[in-house]
Amino acid sequence: MSAEKNRELMKSLFAQSDHEKSDQQKGLPYPSLQKEFPEGEMELVDLPEPDPGVVVKPEFYQLLKDRESRRQYTAESFSLAELSFLLYATQGVKEVVGKGYATRRPVPSAGARHPFETYLAINRVGDLIPGIYRYLPLSHQLTFLEASDQLPGLLAKANLGQRFVGQAACVFIWSCIPYRAEWRYQDHAHKNMLIDVGHICQNLYLAAEALGAGTCAIGAYDQGAMDTLLELDGVDEYVVYLAPVGKI
Ligand SMILES: Cc1cc2nc3c(=O)[nH]c(=O)nc-3n(C[C@H](O)[C@H](O)[C@H](O)COP(=O)(O)O)c2cc1C
Repeated sequence: MSAEKNRELMKSLFAQSDHEKSDQQKGLPYPSLQKEFPEGEMELVDLPEPDPGVVVKPEFYQLLKDRESRRQYTAESFSLAELSFLLYATQGVKEVVGKGYATRRPVPSAGARHPFETYLAINRVGDLIPGIYRYLPLSHQLTFLEASDQLPGLLAKANLGQRFVGQAACVFIWSCIPYRAEWRYQDHAHKNMLIDVGHICQNLYLAAEALGAGTCAIGAYDQGAMDTLLELDGVDEYVVYLAPVGKI
């Protein structure tokens, strides 16, 4: 893609009047708020209620001052309570609105579409088996997708040799399901989605810092390798951003 075309993607298309009706305006049913999963067939992990008791650094100004991209982590694990807090801070659901067409979360999202799924590559969290999980924000649970003790190597390779990614206790990987936002915003959904995902990662930075942990945004990754790791089709769902998190 040329730089010129990329620049166009970043611009607002709201003032253009040549848009066809969106699927929402045509009255088409709204897309599901989280990716479906075969109920009854998958192992589910119940997460504890988000607990402010895990926060060791509550002062907001201090958090802002201390926040930085952290690429070195200790071998310490996260507790399930700490992971629960990080998931709530980034994509937890505070409220389902309307007749179930949108959600409100700790981060803003254009039209409250929240067009992302959170996958976790877990090395060290409580008693969880190392492997790939997906967050179910509507019920605040995890689905266990696949065990793997090869994550450090796989993640280093899929992140262009950035070895620290695979060494974290846990890696947050955000995929995008573009139709969830296109249903409302058509071809001007994409600019908003890039902005939305930045809010999520910023909350992860601040929430991790509050726990005495650290993270680093990762934009330099191998698209095909990361999509393959999560078994995503790369068209209707694809990885957009990720961030390893660990104790520091
Ligand atoms: C969109 C985006 C992509 C980034 N990608 C990477 C990355 O692939 N690898 C990395 O080590 N840091 C990455 N970073 C972190 C930046 O290098 C970091 O934010 C910057 O150097 C400023 O440092 P600070 O976050 O400590 O203030 C990324 C940050 C952003 C916002």
